[in-house]
Amino acid sequence: MKLTIRLVGAIWLSVLIVIGGFAFLQIREERERLVDDLKRRAVLVGEGLKEAIEPQVARDSTAGVERILKKFGTARRGIAVYDRFAGLMVATPDIAPSLPPSLPEVTDAVANDVVSQGFRVVGVRRAYVYATPLTRDDRAVGALVVILDAAHLEGAAWNLWWSNALRFLALALVVSLIALVVVRSSVTQPMAKMSEWTKSLRAGRYVPPPDVPDANVFGPLAREVAGLARSMQRARAAAEQEAALRLVGESIWTEERLKQFVNLRLAGRPLVVVSNREPVSHVRKGGRIQTLTPASGLVTAMDPMMRACGGVWVAHGSGDADRETADARGRLGVPEDDPRYTLRRVWLTKEEEHGYYYGFANEGLWPLCHIVHTRPVFRPDDWAHYLAANRTFAETLLDEIRDAEEPLVLIQDYHFAPLPALIKAERPDARVAIFWHIPWPNSEAFAICPWQPELLAGMLGADLVGFHTQYYCNNFLETVDRTLETRIDWERFTVTRGERVTAVKPFPISVAPGFVDDPPQRTREELLRELGVSAEFLGVGVERVDYTKGLPERFRALRWFFERYPEYRGRVVFVQLAAPSRSTIKRYAELALEVEQTVREVNEALGTVSWRPILYLARHHEHREIWSYYRHADFCMVTSLHDGMNLVAKEFVSVRDDEDGVLILSRFAGASQELRDALIINPYDLAGAAEAIRTALEMPKEERHARMTRMRYVVSEHNIYRWAGLLLSELSRIPVETPGVKTS
Ligand code: G6P
Repeated sequence: MKLTIRLVGAIWLSVLIVIGGFAFLQIREERERLVDDLKRRAVLVGEGLKEAIEPQVARDSTAGVERILKKFGTARRGIAVYDRFAGLMVATPDIAPSLPPSLPEVTDAVANDVVSQGFRVVGVRRAYVYATPLTRDDRAVGALVVILDAAHLEGAAWNLWWSNALRFLALALVVSLIALVVVRSSVTQPMAKMSEWTKSLRAGRYVPPPDVPDANVFGPLAREVAGLARSMQRARAAAEQEAALRLVGESIWTEERLKQFVNLRLAGRPLVVVSNREPVSHVRKGGRIQTLTPASGLVTAMDPMMRACGGVWVAHGSGDADRETADARGRLGVPEDDPRYTLRRVWLTKEEEHGYYYGFANEGLWPLCHIVHTRPVFRPDDWAHYLAANRTFAETLLDEIRDAEEPLVLIQDYHFAPLPALIKAERPDARVAIFWHIPWPNSEAFAICPWQPELLAGMLGADLVGFHTQYYCNNFLETVDRTLETRIDWERFTVTRGERVTAVKPFPISVAPGFVDDPPQRTREELLRELGVSAEFLGVGVERVDYTKGLPERFRALRWFFERYPEYRGRVVFVQLAAPSRSTIKRYAELALEVEQTVREVNEALGTVSWRPILYLARHHEHREIWSYYRHADFCMVTSLHDGMNLVAKEFVSVRDDEDGVLILSRFAGASQELRDALIINPYDLAGAAEAIRTALEMPKEERHARMTRMRYVVSEHNIYRWAGLLLSELSRIPVETPGVKTS
């Protein structure tokens, strides 16, 4: 209310000042015009009569003067003639009674022989007096006075003031009304909505920010408040979780525990993570900049860890709006609304990216490490770009740790095999780990790579090499054994090369307990309605379109299932969320076509007018969208032909707080070693996979519940905070390397 009063007051004052100013000027001009008019008329009459009257006055002929005056005097124009002593001789009848015996203008005119004029009250009216001397032989013989009624001058001024006052009132009212409507719709109502919203947040209920008309005004506020609410909610959830864990006497790793651990164990030593894929990318869409969370298991795992630990994450800035959203050094806080760590973007040219990422990493190492019968391609140019990109990342990383003592560096994945050695060469005091997120094949398979020794030597620059499973560690150690001159300790799983000792250990990666903060409140019915399907059972798959994921195999298994069990036709819909990936690589482009073709074939062969067995959604989906699919699906299929871990399986389990839903999981995914309560399948065996789908649909509720509860226990215990805690603890225990002194 106060705001409205202030606003309306300000409007009235401004209108008053403007209209008042204009009115003042207008009245002044009008008055000048009227006075000029009076003067002109007085001069015309006075000077016109002067000649005729002068001889009469000189002769003292009162009768002669009277005759002339009678002719020219009117009710509003009085004329009087004074003698040489400034005494009244004759005046027109209308004015005569009100004329004073002497007038200053007359005295002035007679005495000084000049025209004298001015305003004066004559009788009761205001008048304009014009006195001109009458002369004879250069001698003043009297004065002729013209007296014009000037009362209309006041009236005109009043009229103008009055019309301007009305104008002021009308304008002030209209502007105030418009302002009130605008204030109501753009300020008062949005403020009321915002305050309702903040009240809900304070009560611990997460409600998305209301739709307010002016995003420029309220957008930043809404973002700040949402960030604040999320922090509060996180703190509240962490406290509740800690309290619950204390009650049951368990020591599960939580975000809070990892924070404490980092504070105590690392004691201020900075943590730097390096990966190719960045945790957030900025892309331009329809003239606006969008923030995307890339579809990457690595990002799903590492982002919650970085939010807990803080530090710097160095990654390739691959989004087309990445430069605009970072500072001059390529740095920005993540998450943007409540920064918990720093992202440092590395810039690569298209050519470098092509050779290093698409070429060597994804046409060479990716198929080399995944046994899926896609032939790796190794080109010398790609290798050169791969090395150059590693050097570029090394420079950025060294820049980040320039002033840090004994920093911890966690290098991620197959994009950076040479990087550990590059870092260690410059900074022997840094503790460096490289974690390989994909499988490590057996030594014969890896030997295909022409640069095998260089890759291994680069990796052995690290103090710690991590894989998801012991099996991959063993494969790695065997590969090293057959390739380089080293000493391998098979009991302690270390490699000694010259003076360098590298530990090789399994750290099965995982997810954070909550897949998203404040999950959306979308019900199963809403989800199905939005998809435009009606189904008794819902199956889901969430993948990048990658040949390691077994997508064609999965759809053929679904076909097999519907053919073998026709009673399920029309009752089961399988939704595949398919994120486009690495699509400039020929094999990926071919795969995308093959997958779409397979879906079409299945849908054409089995579908009806009202039912399509497979709904294929080929686009990027944010975690919040994916959450609803995980949460409401009756079963989730992970059919990887080979997969280091596969976090989709763990995400699905982590979302199922209803302790329901069945996971169908490939035995070739690392996750199958931990999630024993999934229905484990061989994705190449279509009949077996189809049978698993039927088993999932017909599994009694109690069994579903029991299996999911056990899997949830595994995932919540072996979560990403534990992964990070164990890895950092192992790394920080490694003694400082003093050049020339051997460590054991
Ligand atoms: C796997 C790799 C990650 C990679 C992810 C997505 O999980 O281990 O390093 O980020 O796939 O692939 P992309 O090439 O899009 O980063």
